[in-house]
Amino acid sequence: MADLDGLKVAKDYHLDVPFANNSESFYVKGANNLDWGMKKHLANIFDAKSGNTVMFAFDHGYFMGSVSGLERLDILVPKLIPSVDVVMCTRGALRSCVPPAGNKAVALRVTSGSSMLNDDLSHEIVAVDIEDAIRCNADCMAVQAFIGADGQLESIDNISKVINAGIRHSIPTMGVVAVGKDMDRTDKYFKHATRVLAELGVNIVKTYYCDNFEEVVAACPVPLVVAGGKKLPENEALTLAYNAISKGAHGVDMGRNIFQSHHPIEMAEAVRKIVHEKATDKEAYEFYKNAISK
Ligand code: 5RP
Repeated sequence: MADLDGLKVAKDYHLDVPFANNSESFYVKGANNLDWGMKKHLANIFDAKSGNTVMFAFDHGYFMGSVSGLERLDILVPKLIPSVDVVMCTRGALRSCVPPAGNKAVALRVTSGSSMLNDDLSHEIVAVDIEDAIRCNADCMAVQAFIGADGQLESIDNISKVINAGIRHSIPTMGVVAVGKDMDRTDKYFKHATRVLAELGVNIVKTYYCDNFEEVVAACPVPLVVAGGKKLPENEALTLAYNAISKGAHGVDMGRNIFQSHHPIEMAEAVRKIVHEKATDKEAYEFYKNAISK
């Protein structure tokens, strides 16, 4: 019981001031009508000032095993964490190699079933249940989507189940557009796949950069984050990030172009300049070169 001595009587109700939040809309695309818990998770992912995010993807092991650059998650990940906003990873990597202290958001990979070893990359299951996503403090659950591929029906089933569970517990879902070797990488395909995912109810779509990307952005009512794809020279990866952000992406979810760089921390910092500080690709590359020369 609080000590009541000297308690001031409340009197300044600012009756002439309308309720402060009434005219505000939430800054994350398509999220204005979501509940508080969903918005809080999205606010953990997307920076309130820039509206954007730098996700660091290192979930590759879930189907590729130990890939170049990710041999020692325990060494790399803690060093990179200060330079990114979100870790996108499996629960195994999260629990074993991501320090729980700190304020980084978690994009938890919840589907699996593919493996490079059997060349069957379009059939997955939901492997992480919602209770474990809650225990991992996931800010979103990432689901692979094979749209237009052999595994489309089970992908849509997986996505719908994860979205339904996420809605029950106010955890957003991120749909990850998969591009197999036989799949189209055109704006026509990405417009279709990203829109299908948004209509199913995902709150974020991870996709790839393509020609006419601004039209892909315009047709998708939730934020797009762009994968880096295969390792490029650093200046080209920064140009990819710049093109994506300047055409309306709300961030990157970059893996190999960060962790396979000889200077992953400096590369992540250069990407941040583009994503959060409106730097051009050239400015970001100058920053990168200066940073690695020190
Ligand atoms: C696999 C993924 C990976 O996280 C993604 O491809 C990694 O990013 P990058 O292409 O930048 O290495 O979602 O489907």
